[in-house]
Amino acid sequence: MAEQEALCDIGFIGLGVMGKNIALNLADNGYKIAGFDLDHHRIDDLIEEDALERGEQEPRIIACQSYTQLLSKLKAPHLIILSIPAGSAVDDVCLKLIDAGIKADDIIVDTGNSLWTDTIEREKRYQGKFIFFTTAVSGGEVGARFGPSLMPSGDPYAWARIEPVWHAISAKVEPETGRALERTHHTQPLTVGEPCATYIGPAGSGHYVKMVHNGIEYADMQMICEAYHIMRESLAMTPVEIAAVFRQWNKGVLNSYLIEISSEVLEHFDDETGKPLVDIILDKAGQKGTGLWTAVSALQIGAPATTIAQSVFARSLSTLKHARVRASNFLVGPNVEQVKESEKAQCIEQIHDALYCSKIVAYAQGFQLIKLAAREQKWPIDFGGIAKIWRAGCIIRAAFLQKITDAYDRDSDLGNLLLDEYFAGEIAKYQNNWRQAISHATITGIPCGAFSSALAYYDSYRTENLPASLLQGQRDYFGAHTFERVDKPLGKKYHIKWTDQDRPMVEVD
Ligand code: 6PG
Repeated sequence: MAEQEALCDIGFIGLGVMGKNIALNLADNGYKIAGFDLDHHRIDDLIEEDALERGEQEPRIIACQSYTQLLSKLKAPHLIILSIPAGSAVDDVCLKLIDAGIKADDIIVDTGNSLWTDTIEREKRYQGKFIFFTTAVSGGEVGARFGPSLMPSGDPYAWARIEPVWHAISAKVEPETGRALERTHHTQPLTVGEPCATYIGPAGSGHYVKMVHNGIEYADMQMICEAYHIMRESLAMTPVEIAAVFRQWNKGVLNSYLIEISSEVLEHFDDETGKPLVDIILDKAGQKGTGLWTAVSALQIGAPATTIAQSVFARSLSTLKHARVRASNFLVGPNVEQVKESEKAQCIEQIHDALYCSKIVAYAQGFQLIKLAAREQKWPIDFGGIAKIWRAGCIIRAAFLQKITDAYDRDSDLGNLLLDEYFAGEIAKYQNNWRQAISHATITGIPCGAFSSALAYYDSYRTENLPASLLQGQRDYFGAHTFERVDKPLGKKYHIKWTDQDRPMVEVD
């Protein structure tokens, strides 16, 4: 009995930045952890850090030197959390745990940014050997430590087991307002509020939702960068002045984590040169792949996530630094004067509204993409539930998410966020400024692909008759690809015999 009491609640594998912080968060919430990392120093450092912080108390985390030892330290059935790089490393660890003797009712939870289709494969592959469950995590290292947003999916039995754990460690919000609740002391868990962790659905769905979260994150970041770029180039504002504008915006409808951190980055100066940090950082954007996966999935499904895809392409274009430097001396732009001081305030307001309207469109695209994927995969997704768990803890957390939550409360089956009365009204109010900001950037030669693609999406979506009719005519002309008629039942196909002199129309079976 004494030995049973000493056993740990959770096995934790992978103690990099994210893993270490999730493990500490679990420990704060009273779970005893058996930790393992291929780099043994990591677990030793973690235990030392925890002991230093908490003084002479019973250790909350114990070090394991092998997978077998890890299993021997856990209560049965075992609950093991992985925080390791996505890809083959996940299977390597799963196979090692099978060799070490993991059982059919043990649970392994993958918390990395895995590709959703890999997750579906893994759930099948490991059936009967152990239960493969996943939980996508958002919030970066601070979120992991003090309250991330969690997107779990997979076996409902495993969910029943892990639900109290995730509810304990996740970010929390005031249910009515959606306001994030802060932990007052970092080793004291937060026991009140609505947890930002909800079961998404069958295997793959949680990682799909997280992937789209990241696609929206790409769009949100790119749009903030475009707002910065117009202010910097056309309004000749300094990074510090732009930071002040962002701080102001953060008090209104654009209130969000990404706006907040953008102002902090813009206010920072490089120690070595004394220059604004943003002028020292090389303008080549990196990416780990989740934005690209979102764009690829959107293309495959036929979901028009144009602003998300544009934001991925904007990163790709940024990496062509060498070519851009050469082109900047070769390709001419428009010859225009800077905005007059007296017009600046109005211009800033237009940029604000462009960012706000584009942001609404990016979220509309993301939710529409999830809706189409859910239909294809037969996932019963609760869209309001997703908006709720993104209200705090995750990278795209924003006051705005409460409005999306409200929209899905009004209509849980909403086809597109733009059709919600609140968002339709907001765009109607601010669209003139949105158009002005884009036309100003276009005339002055400042790229704003995310703003423009969002506006083009909005204008296409609200247009009854698109020129796709001409496109269908072109396709029929060169490839006999057929078309439907507006005045005949849907599904009936027609073709013009373009090479015949009279060009007769025929019905095609
Ligand atoms: C999060 C982040 C996280 C990670 C991104 C970065 O939600 O916590 O999205 O998952 O920081 O993967 O992605 P890129 O390196 O592609 O920008």
